[in-house]
Amino acid sequence: MSRKKIAFAGPWITQKEKDYALDAVENGWYETYDKHVKLLEAEIRRYLDKKFALATHCCTLALHLSCAALGLERGDEVICTDFSWVATAYAITYTGATPVFVDIDPDSWCISPEAVRRAITQKTKAIMLVHCFGHPCDMDPIMEIARENGLAVIEDAAPSMGARYKGKKTGTFGDFGCFSFHGAKITVSGEGGILVTDDAKLFERVQLLASMGRTDSRAVFWSDMEGYQYTMGNIAASLALAQMERVDELVAKKREIFHWYKQRLENTPGVKLITEKEHCFSNYCYPSLLLTNSTRAKRDAILLGLKELNVHCRPAFPRMSRFPSLPMRYENPVAKQVEERGISLASAANITEEDVEFVCRAFTDLLGV
Ligand SMILES: Cc1ncc(COP(=O)(O)O)c(C=O)c1O
Repeated sequence: MSRKKIAFAGPWITQKEKDYALDAVENGWYETYDKHVKLLEAEIRRYLDKKFALATHCCTLALHLSCAALGLERGDEVICTDFSWVATAYAITYTGATPVFVDIDPDSWCISPEAVRRAITQKTKAIMLVHCFGHPCDMDPIMEIARENGLAVIEDAAPSMGARYKGKKTGTFGDFGCFSFHGAKITVSGEGGILVTDDAKLFERVQLLASMGRTDSRAVFWSDMEGYQYTMGNIAASLALAQMERVDELVAKKREIFHWYKQRLENTPGVKLITEKEHCFSNYCYPSLLLTNSTRAKRDAILLGLKELNVHCRPAFPRMSRFPSLPMRYENPVAKQVEERGISLASAANITEEDVEFVCRAFTDLLGV
């Protein structure tokens, strides 16, 4: 066993988070029951330079609200990356629409713009992309394809707070950007999410949908449309707010951890590290690599060997197009390769350079190089 558990993910909590949470517990009731929610939404609007923000119980619900507000329904198709946590796809299927899964770019693991273009049909209504593991998607061609074909763009920016493409923050390009404050993300509140948009009409719909369609138009508690209870609680918001006020330092920490890995692994035979492509600033939420000459069995054996040393690294996502709950099947060879041979490295915020040294030595021993 190593000296301690080296965790895959986990936050950096300071006195600020404790102070804000205590303030929310003590004072976040009565007239100020949503004080921290409002402050968080204002902080996100400022940070991302967006007109509207709505904090949600988690990012999955922010994604669902985006799909629902766009009016997606049965018969519509949404072009979606095949490589993500399944929340990305279920946000689409909740509306009855069909995700059309396309392949990813081998260097960033983000949706391939060429694959998006090839997948467009008469039924296509939107593009759902993911800034995968904090690396920005190639937004110029994607936005061009969307404009040319009249498609909406939803950015699943769950892990990408602070990442940038050509200097512009992820989550700010499309009709909607959705971020997660899950405990394994860069800025955390336990469970939590936030949606941003610049479109006043869409946002009005989002607000109605997120609060049970309540309008009070004909009576107190009157609801004018079927909606959901999706909004964030104040205590979670107090944590997210404190973290957002420290976002630059949290991103810098993740980038430092990645740099330690890069120094040790970039010239390792049989290893391809995912690094920033031109014009991209990654937050390196989950530093990741591909084993170029290995098998799935070898990858799994390496992960097991690390686990026995109390090091938690993660296999890459299985392609969502293989799930029994998502019946359409697609061939996406790059995503297949990453599924079989991809690894995300331990990068909790409490990791030290010594820990990274330990992980890299164990990893290269297990790889046999
Ligand atoms: C790419 C992606 N999309 C969506 C989500 C869902 O976020 P949440 O857990 O906040 O609902 C996650 C969470 O891990 C994610 O990684």
